[in-house]
Formats: sequence, C-alpha cells, structure tokens
Amino acid sequence: MATLDTLWLNANLLTMREDAPDGGPLHRVGIGARDGRIAVIGGIDALAGAIAHEVVDLDGAWVTPGLIDCHTHLVFGGDRSNEFELRLVGRSYAEIAKAGGGIRATVRATRETAEAELLAAAAGRLGRLLAEGVTTVEIKSGYGLDVSSELKMLRVATALGATGEVQVVRTLLGLHALPDEFAAAREAYVELCAGPMLDAALAAGLVDMVDAFCETIAFSTGETARVLAAARARGLPVRLHADQLSDMGAAALAAEHGALSADHLEHTGTAAVRAMAKAGTVAVLLPGAFYMLNETKRPPVAALRREGVPIAVATDANPGSSPLLSPLLALNMACVLFGLSPIEALRGMTLNAAKALGLAHDRGSLELGKRCDLAIWRIGRPAELCYWMGAAPLERRVVAGRMR
Ligand code: NIG
Ligand code: FE
Repeated sequence: MATLDTLWLNANLLTMREDAPDGGPLHRVGIGARDGRIAVIGGIDALAGAIAHEVVDLDGAWVTPGLIDCHTHLVFGGDRSNEFELRLVGRSYAEIAKAGGGIRATVRATRETAEAELLAAAAGRLGRLLAEGVTTVEIKSGYGLDVSSELKMLRVATALGATGEVQVVRTLLGLHALPDEFAAAREAYVELCAGPMLDAALAAGLVDMVDAFCETIAFSTGETARVLAAARARGLPVRLHADQLSDMGAAALAAEHGALSADHLEHTGTAAVRAMAKAGTVAVLLPGAFYMLNETKRPPVAALRREGVPIAVATDANPGSSPLLSPLLALNMACVLFGLSPIEALRGMTLNAAKALGLAHDRGSLELGKRCDLAIWRIGRPAELCYWMGAAPLERRVVAGRMR
C-alpha cells in the first residue's frame, strides 16, 4: 500500500453507507487518507502493512462524514429581531412580508452593507456551523435582487470557501421576493432573473445552482417554471423552496424539472411525493423555520419514507424564518418535531444532503475514494448528536484529509 498522509486509529465510524439502514457503524477500526481522499478503512487485516506520515490515535472517538448543511442563507445585512418581536404578539410571517418587511427588509439592509462587512458577518456565522462539524455548506443569494447586489452576495459566498476550511456551494436565488422597484413590473423582474441575472452570475463564475421561492407571498408556479427552465437550459441544476406555507404544487413542479431537491414541504401532498420519488428529487426538511414560525402542519415524512424519497435536513440559517446557527440543534428538531430517527437525521445531514447538492458521488459517506471530510466527536453513541441541546461534542474536523 502506498504511504498514507494520515491514519486515524481506534475510531468508531458511522459510515452512512447507502445500503446500511443502521448507518453502517464500524467499531474500533482505522481510516486513512491519501491526497485528500479516503484510501483505507478497516480493522487490523485491512491496515496490515499500512504506513502513514501521521498517525492519530482517536481512542474510541466517533467519526461521521463531515456534516453538510445543504440549505442556508448565511450572507445578509442586518437582522430581523424586530419582526421576531412582532410575531410574538400575533403578526404572521406572511403579514409582515406583505407590509414590506420580511425578505425585502433584509434586501434593503444587504444592498446598503459593504461587501467586506457582509463577509465579516457571514464568516462569524459560518464559524458556528464549522464548530459543529460542517465541512460543506450551501449558501444562497436572494437578498440582493438586482444584478450587482446578487453578484456581491455570491462573491461573499465564494470568499467564504476560499480559506479551504469548508467547501461552499453557491446558489443563485433571484426569485426570492419581488424587489420594491419592480412592484409594478413583476414580469420584467422574472425576465431579469431568467436571463441577464443568470448570465451575469455564470459569466463571473459565481454560481453552482439555482433556487426559487414558489409561494403565495413570493412567486407563482408559472413564474418559477420560467426561471427553472432558463437555468436548466444553461446547464445549471435547480432546486426549490416548495410548499412551505401553502400547497402551491411547488414540489410537483420541482420534480417535473428534475430538481435536485424540494425544500420545506410542510404542505406537500402524496401525489407530489410520488413525483419526487420518480424524479430522484431529495426532500430537504427545515425544522428551524417550522419551529421559529410556530407552524403546525408537518412535512409528509411517512409518505416520503414509503415512496423512498431521500430525506435531508438543513439549518435554513437566515435572518427571518430560521436564525438557526446550530446544525446539531437542527438534527434534534428534525427528530423531535418531525419524528425522524437519529440515524435518519444524521443521514439527512451527510449522504442525503450530498445528494441534494448533487455531490453524493464525492462525499456524504465514509467509503473508499470519497473526499476525506470527517467530523470527530467525543460521544458514546451516535444518537447523542441528536439528543443534546447546546452541547459541544466536536473534537476535530478533517477537510479533504487535513485536520482543522
Ligand atoms: O427558507 N422562504 C424563503 N426563504 C427563507 C426565508 C428567508 C427570510 O425570511 O429572510 C426560508 O425560510
Ligand atoms: Fe430557505
């Protein structure tokens, strides 16, 4: 065997292999990396003759794939704690949005905030995710809503990934809200999103995928379809904020467009779940927004299971509906509020999150040849990752084979 870069010994691995309903645990084994990839996994036999530049004794720590937060809005100006206070005295998220608050309030703040300041604030929030084991994060634009402000957000997202501490997947979310200056020109804004904005982001090399907010308070299925088609015509994968507050047929639309994922899904019906299963569209559940908005209608978890739709879990970190910067708390909420098992929740932030980003061939489980992105935890059982609220069980992260 060629010399390994690093070999971790005495590890308990939660491999998250696709074919292992129990998460595929391996007890007291070694895992080794070469050139950023997993080069060996196994017990004494598999490791016989292995030589490594660096050997680390993990003394029984648990190792999972690095966590993947596949749905965040981490870059934004200001905050919306004022709206939180309004909701506490009975105003609804939709009401506040219609009155000019909500996403459009964050758009005003984001446009006014200098790029360096946006970067510093987002880096602080990202640090909270990394402290809980995240090695890949998706970050959306959507608080700029004009070409230059959307590009500014995407540049900040790109800069967040440039340190090598974490890999960032960048999503253009032009169709997030109708900006004030287009209040009387909806169609023109949709056309901007379906053409010039997409082309500018592509030309600048700043976009990996495209998302849209399909909802009564945002964009219709027709408007959404226009932008999804334009994105696909340019070779970009798509996903959707779907059926969060009402059943708009958005999850079905996502499936129709072969979307990587449909996210939220509180109001999604069984027919749409079947369509998602057929299309291979991942269900991304966002319990932080469900909790924060005090929702009562749960996503159709039983139907998703029955139809075999992969379930992912993410923080949806954003200043309005989900100011949640703890991926582990998102896992806890997915179990308590949505009834996921701890292994389902963990699969939702590893392998199935990788699927939602189109990256499952490359990461999301501990298997030979995949990127060596690891989270090393000082816990006795994997379920503890979903059980504690506010604990700090992370010992180390490994990103592409390098200890962080
Ligand atoms: O995922 N629903 C649309 N987007 C975000 C909310 C953004 C905001 O309120 O600022 C979400 O919940
Ligand atoms: Fe979102």
